Amino acid sequence: MKKLIACSLLSLCMVFASVSSTLAAADPGPADMTVGEGGKKPAKFPHKAHQAFSTCGDCHHGMDAAGKQLAYSDGQEIKKCASCHNEKVLAGKVKGAHKLDTMKGAGHGNCQECHKAKKNDEAYKAKKIDKCDTCHAKE
Ligand code: HEC
Ligand code: HEC
Ligand code: HEC
Ligand code: HEC
Repeated sequence: MKKLIACSLLSLCMVFASVSSTLAAADPGPADMTVGEGGKKPAKFPHKAHQAFSTCGDCHHGMDAAGKQLAYSDGQEIKKCASCHNEKVLAGKVKGAHKLDTMKGAGHGNCQECHKAKKNDEAYKAKKIDKCDTCHAKE
């Protein structure tokens, strides 16, 4: 009986928590996706799983009137990466080895750089998350 009460209290709390978080939070987008679907090197991307250990602003941002990167803030419109990372909008822009006027550069500059930075973390070490086939299916 005690267990039953504790359990229903817990689920009640969880309902409240999820209601208040849906009121506050932005549309989280799809749970799973394939970035570059149908292209030469599609990359599988568990979007929801990443939201558990990183923030929206680790990946999403906008652009200001001067064409500079605008940090993510709550309520900011989330657009497709390729709507800016294409050869018209960000022509000639680079970040290190990454050409930001391509989707490859945006994907590698964001996804691959983080995977490289975290590859030796105890929690993920065994997975070798910096390998190409973490994201791109083996040919
Ligand atoms: C953490 C994820 C990740 C890893 C690791 C990764 N990539 Fe990618 N890669 C992407 C994403 C995202 C794109 C952009 C997909 C798209 O929109 O075409 C991409 C794009 C590419 C493209 C361009 C395809 C095209 O259509 O122009 C090539 C080539 C590529 N990757 C090769 C590699 C190779 C080789 C490795 C290993 C050295 C690698 N990638 C590792 C995520 C990754
Ligand atoms: C690890 C990187 C990463 C994180 C963290 C992340 N996203 Fe995303 N999200 C992406 C990528 C990549 C796409 C696909 C964009 C594209 O298709 O060009 C996407 C797509 C979306 C879309 C769909 C956009 C569209 O027009 O199709 C929404 C909405 C979204 N994300 C919301 C969020 C919110 C809200 C958060 C934080 C709670 C978040 N994302 C966290 C990388 C991320
Ligand atoms: C509204 C336009 C816009 C959208 C949408 C956008 N970006 Fe960007 N991004 C920029 C601008 C502007 C810069 C800075 C370019 C410069 O001045 O060098 C930038 C820089 C970057 C950089 C290099 C700097 C850094 O932060 O590491 C990466 C990587 C990147 N974007 C990846 C992405 C990814 C991945 C997505 C989709 C999830 C995305 N961008 C969506 C405009 C955009
Ligand atoms: C902020 C850092 C960060 C960014 C940005 C990021 N990732 Fe990850 N990703 C991780 C970490 C850390 C893991 C391992 C999570 C775990 O095992 O619990 C992971 C796991 C994955 C996995 C599952 C690997 C497996 O075998 O379980 C895939 C696929 C993946 N990421 C693809 C991508 C793609 C594609 C992008 C860009 C659109 C991206 N990631 C951006 C940190 C990041």
